[in-house]
Amino acid sequence: MPDRVLVTREIPDAGLRALEPFDVTVLHERPPERDELLDAVRGVSGILATATERIDGEIMDAAGDHLRVVANMAVGYDNVDVDAARDRRIVVTNTPGVLDETTADVTFMLLLAAARRLGEGERLLRAGRWEWWGPKQLMGQDVWGKRLGIIGFGRIGQSVARRGKGFGMEILYHNRSRKPDAEQELDARRLDLDELLETADFVSVHTPLTDETRYLIGGPELEKMKPEAVLVNTSRGPVVDEAALADALESGQIFAAGLDVYEAEPEVHPKLLDLENVVLAPHIGSASVETRERMAALAAENIAAVLSGEEPKTPVD
Ligand code: NAP
Ligand code: GLV
Repeated sequence: MPDRVLVTREIPDAGLRALEPFDVTVLHERPPERDELLDAVRGVSGILATATERIDGEIMDAAGDHLRVVANMAVGYDNVDVDAARDRRIVVTNTPGVLDETTADVTFMLLLAAARRLGEGERLLRAGRWEWWGPKQLMGQDVWGKRLGIIGFGRIGQSVARRGKGFGMEILYHNRSRKPDAEQELDARRLDLDELLETADFVSVHTPLTDETRYLIGGPELEKMKPEAVLVNTSRGPVVDEAALADALESGQIFAAGLDVYEAEPEVHPKLLDLENVVLAPHIGSASVETRERMAALAAENIAAVLSGEEPKTPVD
């Protein structure tokens, strides 16, 4: 009897092809309800999950003794209780490396759109309220030649910095550990968090969500930023205090923001929805056809490896 694998959402075909040797159940396009997930995992050996499912000890226990691998189709794995998995000798994998450039593109898209007021301009135009070209109309902030501050200088943070270099920007970074190779490649300067916030014209957040990074950017940090500065967050929503950000944008404490992620997705703080100076994307950082195929394939290959007694390509530890 082939091992049973649960795929929690509809995923690109490349993932399903890699799971052909197994007895696969695919749930549906929308995220499963908790009870449905608890029921669906019973007796499976592998779970291919996405960032919208909380995979904790209760889910692992509901799956039972057969469960050997949880493969997250995301690089972030804050939705998986890794300690609970380790206690139960369950391997956890993620999808690092295959989405860096795609997520960096979306980060730069948000940065440019927020700086140059694209969302506001498009809303004006679509509403039929654009009456003339104006010498003082929709003036934003230049991007080229400015200081780009990256918080979390890992794979995606460095890919964003490379784009910044292409725009003639000076690269500053704040990271837990020093990154000498990237410093050299990108002529990047490491600063402590406060110094980066005070100096940068653009602040882009790329840490994982952990106990240390929850609300890394809150009211006091936003107060340190320049009034012309733009904040971009494509990491995880709870790394930024959304209510504090909405206040800072409303009062003009910072110029603008671009967000791809939110504290309680798919909910968005109601004040943000009413503000003109924030560009809001629905968590599409990795959403290109090619990258989602690569993510699905990598997650599935990790499951296939573990269930065949081999090492997975990208275990989280
Ligand atoms: P990564 O290569 O592991 O980079 C994360 C960086 O953050 C590392 O350099 C790490 O430092 C640093 N860091 C961790 N904790 C820190 C702290 N407390 N203070 C300062 N720096 C800290 O991860 P990645 O592949 O770039 O992905 C980053 C995150 O982006 C993911 O975890 C995910 O949540 C998010 N993401 C979102 C989307 C989207 O669709 N919006 C897509 C992909 C990823 P060390 O090197 O010292 O460990
Ligand atoms: C997406 O949010 C990811 O972590 O891959």
